[in-house]
Amino acid sequence: MALALEYEGISKEYCSWSRRRPVRALQQFSLSVERGEVFGFLGPNGAGKSTAIHLAMGFMRPTSGAGRMLAKPFGDAGTRRRVGFLAENVSLYHRRAEAAIGFYGGLNGLHGPALDRGVKSALEAVDLHSEAGRSVSQFSRGMLQRMGLAQALVNDPELLILDEPTSALDPAARVSIRELLLGFRNQGKTIFLSSHLLSEVELVCDRVAILSHGRLLRIGTLKEMLATTGQVEIVAHSISNTVFTDSMVDGERLRFTVPIGRQREAIERVWSEGGEVVSINPVRRSLEELFLELTNPVPNDVVAGESGTVS
Ligand SMILES: Nc1ncnc2c1ncn2[C@@H]1O[C@H](COP(=O)(O)OP(=O)(O)OP(=O)(O)O)[C@@H](O)[C@H]1O
Ligand SMILES: [Mg+2]
Repeated sequence: MALALEYEGISKEYCSWSRRRPVRALQQFSLSVERGEVFGFLGPNGAGKSTAIHLAMGFMRPTSGAGRMLAKPFGDAGTRRRVGFLAENVSLYHRRAEAAIGFYGGLNGLHGPALDRGVKSALEAVDLHSEAGRSVSQFSRGMLQRMGLAQALVNDPELLILDEPTSALDPAARVSIRELLLGFRNQGKTIFLSSHLLSEVELVCDRVAILSHGRLLRIGTLKEMLATTGQVEIVAHSISNTVFTDSMVDGERLRFTVPIGRQREAIERVWSEGGEVVSINPVRRSLEELFLELTNPVPNDVVAGESGTVS
């Protein structure tokens, strides 16, 4: 299995003279991201997401443990040129947009016509080509975030690492960035995405990991994570709303929820009352519900493991 990112038992402590104890930003953190997937990296403020991303980019070293990005140890300079990175706070030199993106293309080894092509296609990808000659100092927050994405795309990377890429975008820009990311995935590239916009994550990610207090709480496909509430919703018609408690009248239909183990009994009850079953569907929780369930209250000690609840 080709991996885009691998964290192996990584811990990161921040020490400072003003605090007696170090801050444990990551604790025995292990995670593998496969090539070609869109991976959502979620967690409350301070969970350790940006720390994990900065370690992969080689901006700092782990206190213990090791990791690889595109099969090379974290911090490998040559590998950085094959990766696009968007930081959570975009800060760019105050110069014309095309010059600002060209600067990053140059840092990634592009020059001449290849650099011109890279700048043009990156600005087009984020819909800023018409603003190419304007100074970045005049850009709005959303435009700056799109510039941040353009600089991440300029070297046509194999792996995109995005720390909060759409937080400042309006709905139309979000839709176009979502399409951009899905197009990127369709080219066989990998996206590692940290975001608090859980509805966006639900729309683009294949797998997600939820981190809290520097530890991995849950990892899996969205389908696995959201399917199981242990309840099914049954929709029936031609039946009185007094038959099932907590049922909801929806036009001519009645909706109610029962535990999976009592599904058969409920269906037989509908029939015996002269009604008909229209549909039976497992109740999916939203990613937001799962996120809140896992991250509140503070979790007990947990150990990382692949797929499903980590115990
Ligand atoms: N340079 C630093 N010095 C000391 N502590 C730090 C430093 N950077 C981060 N931390 C601490 O490490 C922990 C993890 O921070 P991190 O920025 O990785 O979280 P995050 O998940 O990205 O949060 P957010 O969603 O708010 O961006 C926090 O407790 C934070 O205070
Ligand atoms: Mg962060």
